[in-house]
Amino acid sequence: MQKIKRLAILTSGGDAPGMNAAIRAVVRTAIDEGIYVFGVYGGFEGLIEGEVMPMSRRSVSNIIQKGGTFLKTSRSEAFQHKAGRKRGADVLKEWDINDLVVIGGDGSFHGAHALYDEHRINVVGIPGTIDNDIYGTDLTIGYDTAVHTALDSIDKIRDTAASHDRIFLVEVMGRHAGFIALEVGICGGAEEILVPESDTSLEYLGEMIKTWSKAGKTSSLMVVAEGHKLGSANEIATKLKENFNVGCHVCVLGHTQRGGSPTASDRLLASRLGYHAVHALLKGKTDIMVGWSNNHVTYTSLPESWEKKKPLDPELLKIYRILST
Ligand code: F6P
Repeated sequence: MQKIKRLAILTSGGDAPGMNAAIRAVVRTAIDEGIYVFGVYGGFEGLIEGEVMPMSRRSVSNIIQKGGTFLKTSRSEAFQHKAGRKRGADVLKEWDINDLVVIGGDGSFHGAHALYDEHRINVVGIPGTIDNDIYGTDLTIGYDTAVHTALDSIDKIRDTAASHDRIFLVEVMGRHAGFIALEVGICGGAEEILVPESDTSLEYLGEMIKTWSKAGKTSSLMVVAEGHKLGSANEIATKLKENFNVGCHVCVLGHTQRGGSPTASDRLLASRLGYHAVHALLKGKTDIMVGWSNNHVTYTSLPESWEKKKPLDPELLKIYRILST
């Protein structure tokens, strides 16, 4: 076991429900191991500015159920440069801290890896992003809550779509990945799911819309992942009108998917990964991400977590095709 005296924690990139639960788990596990814990406010940007505060068990009281991140977060431009990272490393050294837990997505992991590579700060990443697009873990913190939030909206849209016999295009987040779209599409009974990983063409969509009405469907709903090759939901609606004279209503769910109280599943994942992040550092592991796969903790090197692509479940893609018609 490695002796660690002082450890810092920060959240970085887009916030995700469950980040607070992960911070709480890291802080309390570390204190349980006799480690002094410090919170960095405002992600890597805050680190550069020296926003470091000592934390106690009470600093993380009453946050497990809250969305967002009470440590705040940022997408730091300065930290993408060597000078910014040097300043961040200097701040940690001024506080006599050599171990850092970073909760975030792939952009945040790039920053954490560089901090290790250039300044030998020991870093462990915890996957926190609604997109679920990180290799090395079945799920990322925030994904389950985002799916529930989007699904709640989709159920409501279905009610009004059915009343008015309308076609809806609902846009969900996910950046370049279709995990949210595929899961909410299946659970919301969508007629079509457009994920960035597939090449669905406009012509195919036009044909499908005709088959739905022939099959007796009076309303329908398509889920569009924001990174789809055909464009945004609004752009697809315009193209369907221009090419097939089909009118669609559009609903962009946007940042609602990033907020809200985390589900039990996200709180559990966050508690587990927070605990394992501290123990990974104590075991001398560094430059890695802790994840959860097949009911076990996993350790993935930070570069591997963004270099390898986590695929969509091919069986789910097949199931949705069968169930949607
Ligand atoms: O990575 C999380 C995410 O919500 C993506 O799904 C989305 O593309 C992006 O962040 C939006 O980022 P921002 O809030 O900085 O506009």
